[in-house]
Amino acid sequence: MREVRQKQPLHLLEKKVLKVLDRVKEAKLEELSREAGLAEDQIRRAAEWLKAKGFIELNTTTRKLFALGSRGREAIENRLPERRLINLVKEGVRELKELANRFRGGQEFAAALGRARRRGWIRITEGRVELLVEPTSLPEERILEMLRKEHVVEEGRLINDKTLHDGLKELLARPDYILCKSVKEIRVSLTEAGREAVKTIPLEEEIEALTPEVFASGVWRSRRFRPIDVEAPAPPIYAGRRHPVQLFVDEVREIFISMGFEEIDGPLIQPCFWNFDALFTPQDHPAREMQDTFYIKGEAADYANKEDIKRVAATHEYGWKTGSRGWGYKWKEEEARRLVLRTHTTSITVRYLAEHRPKEARVFTVGKVFRNEKVTFKNLVEFYQIEGIAVGAELTLRDLMGLLTQFYKRLDMERVKFWPTFFPYTEPSMQSVVYYDKAGKWIELCGMGIFRPEVTLPFGVRNPVLAWGGGLERLVMMRYGVEDVRELYANRLSWLRGSTPCQ
Ligand code: PHE
Repeated sequence: MREVRQKQPLHLLEKKVLKVLDRVKEAKLEELSREAGLAEDQIRRAAEWLKAKGFIELNTTTRKLFALGSRGREAIENRLPERRLINLVKEGVRELKELANRFRGGQEFAAALGRARRRGWIRITEGRVELLVEPTSLPEERILEMLRKEHVVEEGRLINDKTLHDGLKELLARPDYILCKSVKEIRVSLTEAGREAVKTIPLEEEIEALTPEVFASGVWRSRRFRPIDVEAPAPPIYAGRRHPVQLFVDEVREIFISMGFEEIDGPLIQPCFWNFDALFTPQDHPAREMQDTFYIKGEAADYANKEDIKRVAATHEYGWKTGSRGWGYKWKEEEARRLVLRTHTTSITVRYLAEHRPKEARVFTVGKVFRNEKVTFKNLVEFYQIEGIAVGAELTLRDLMGLLTQFYKRLDMERVKFWPTFFPYTEPSMQSVVYYDKAGKWIELCGMGIFRPEVTLPFGVRNPVLAWGGGLERLVMMRYGVEDVRELYANRLSWLRGSTPCQ
C-alpha cells in the first residue's frame, strides 16, 4: 500500500470539489455541482469544510438584473408619453389645452412636454406646439423593447453603452417603469494551501466505508481506507426535552418533598368562597373587582359544607367565636357562589384545611393562577404560583422564616430578608425578598404569614397554620437570567434549546 500522508484527511466530497477546482480554476456553486456530479447541498457542505480548512476562498459578487415594471409595460402598449406627444403634434393637434386632454394626468403631460422641449424636439409659442425634429428610436424605447423580449436583462448590457446607460437612468427615475433586482453570486477558487492539498489526493480511489462487500471482495487488501477526521465539527443534535418552566416546577416539587411536604392539587375554577371568603377577604375588597379577577359564567352549587359556610358568614359579619369583630356588613351567599379563575393558590390550601381539619400537616401545591392584568415584561395574565402550609401546635413565625430560608437556599439563593406587609388572611404578614446578584437588587418573592383565627377557626383548625405563596416565573427568570417574563412562553427555539441546561 502506498503511504500518502495527509495533514487533514479529506472527505470524498471535498476531494471531488478540489479536483474540479484544480481543473476549472474558478466556479459558481451550481457549476461545481454540475462538474462534480454532486447535489447542491453536498457542494455547499464540502465548500464549508474546505473553507474552514483554508483550501478555498469564496468571492461574493452582486449582479443587477432589470425587468419591466407595471408602467413600463403600459408604455410598451401605449408608447412613451413623450412619443405620444410628438405623434399627436405630427397628426396636427397643436393647442396645448387640447394636447393636455389626451393625457391621463397633468403631471404626465407636463413631464412629456418638458422632456420634448429640453431635447429640442418642439418649440412652444403662444399656447401652440410646433414640431422641430422627430426623434428616431429613443434609448428608453430600445431598453423597454429589450426587456419585453428577454424579460430579464443584465446590468452590464445596459451600462456599457453610453446612450443606453442614459436611457436607463431616465427610466429608473420614473416610478414603476423598470424593476431592479440584485442577485448575489458566489464564486469559489482554490487558495495556495488548496492547490497543495490537491497534490495529496491519492490517485486511486479510497475506500469510503467498511461494508460487507468491501470485506467479501477483498479490495481492502489493496486499497487505502479514507482516514476519518474525528475532530471535525459535527452538526448539533437537539434532542426533545421538557420546557424550562416545567423543569423548574419539578425542581420545586422535589425540594418541598425532600423537606417533608406532600403535594396537593385542586381545580383552576373556584367559587369566590374558596378564593376569597374563606380567606376572610371582604366581599367589597378591591382584589375582587372585575379588573383584577376573571369571573366565569354560572355559579357553584354545592361548594362547601353548610355549617362551614354559616360560620364563615358569621365571621365576616360580626366575628363569630373567633374573637374578631368581623367586617360588620351583611354577607351575601350569591357573591360567594360566583365562579372565578383562581387568582391565587391559597384557594387550594385553605380548602385543604376545611376538608381535613388537620392538627398537623405539611402540604404544598404548584399551579396556574390568573389575573386580569396587562401583559408586560414583568406581568403575565396566567402564571404559576407555589404555595404551602405547615400546621402544628408549636409552630411560630420563626419556623416560617426558617422554612422559606431553607427553600430558597436549596435554589442557591442565600441572601433572604423578610419585611412586614398586609394580607387580609394572615397576621402577622410578611413579604420575603431575595438578593438577585445578576441585577444587584432585592426581589420580592413569596408572601407569607400565620392564618388569622378568622380563617382557621370556622373550619375547626386550632393549631397555628403557617402559610406562604408566590409566583414561580420570577424564580425561573433569576435562574436563567431572563429579563422579560414573556420570553419564558415565547417558544423561541434558540432559547429553549440553548440557554438552559439539558436534563
Ligand atoms: N396569596 C398571596 C399572593 O398571591 C400570597 C400569600 C399566600 C400570602 C399565603 C400569605 C399567605 O400574593
